[in-house]
Amino acid sequence: MMLEVKNLVIRFHDRIGGEAVHGVSFNMDSGERLGIVGESGAGKTLTALAITRLLTDVTEIKGEITFQKTDMLAASDKEMRKIRGRDIGFIFQDPVASLNPLMRIGQQIEEPLLLHMDISKEERRERVLQAIRDVDLPDPEITINKFPHQLSGGQCQRVMIASALICHPALLIADEPTTALDVTVQTQILKLLKQKNKDENVGILYISHDLSLVRRLCTRVIVMYNGDIVETGPVEQVFTHPCEEYTKRLIAAIPTRSKRYV
Ligand SMILES: Nc1ncnc2c1ncn2[C@@H]1O[C@H](COP(=O)(O)OP(=O)(O)O)[C@@H](O)[C@H]1O
Ligand SMILES: [Mg+2]
Repeated sequence: MMLEVKNLVIRFHDRIGGEAVHGVSFNMDSGERLGIVGESGAGKTLTALAITRLLTDVTEIKGEITFQKTDMLAASDKEMRKIRGRDIGFIFQDPVASLNPLMRIGQQIEEPLLLHMDISKEERRERVLQAIRDVDLPDPEITINKFPHQLSGGQCQRVMIASALICHPALLIADEPTTALDVTVQTQILKLLKQKNKDENVGILYISHDLSLVRRLCTRVIVMYNGDIVETGPVEQVFTHPCEEYTKRLIAAIPTRSKRYV
C-alpha cells in the first residue's frame, strides 16, 4: 500500500461546529489512478492538503496518514519538505496563478531538482529539456527561456506537470487541474496524465467536482459529500450503478453532451 488514510478528521478554529472532514478513510496502491469527486465544499482539497501537511491554519488534524511507511502526521517539517516535490508532486486548478510570473519556465521546472537532487547544472538542464519534451510543449530550447504570460493556460498546466514529475514522485496529487481550462485542453491534459501514469507508474490522486472527468482518467473513485465519504468503488460501477442518492444526483448534474463523450 502506497498511501493509507485512516479516520482523518480536520477541524478549524473559526468554523461553527468546527469540523470540515469527519473521519475519512481510504487507501491507494502504487501506480493507481484514484479519483475523489464531490461538489464544492465537500472537503476534497482539505483532504489532499492534509496528506502533505500543507494545511496551516488548522486547529487539529486527527487520524493516521501513512505514505510509503512514513507517518505523515508525526514526521518532522524537514522530512516533509523532502517528501514534497520529491515523492509527492502537486498540480492545482489555476496553473497560471501557481507559476511565478517573474521566473522563466525552465527555472520553475528545475526547482524540485535544485531542492532534492545533487546533480550538475548541465545534467539539470538536460532533465528540464527532457521534461519539456515529455509534456509535449513545443521548442524546448525556446520554451525554457519563456515567462508564464507567454504561454496559454493549457501550456502552463503542462509546465506544472513537468515540474511536479521531474523528480519521479510516487504520487501526483492533482486538485481540479483542468477546471480552469477549456474542454479540448481538458482532454489533452487528461491524456497526458494517463500517459505519465502508464510510462512512469506514478500514482495519481485526481480531485474533481466532475465525475465524467474522473471516469475518463481513474479506475476507482471516492465520492465525498459534506466532509464524509458516501460511496466508493470501481469508477465504471459507481458511474453506471450508483448506490447513493447523492452520487445519482452528481451523475444527473453532468451535462448530456459530456456524458456522451465519456
Ligand atoms: N481555512 C479554513 N477555515 C475554515 N473553514 C475552511 C477553511 N478552509 C476550508 N474550509 C471549509 O472546509 C470545507 C471543505 O473545504 P474544501 O476541502 O476546500 O472543499 P472542496 O475542495 O471539496 O471544494 C468547506 O466548507 C470550506 O468552507
Ligand atoms: Mg477544492
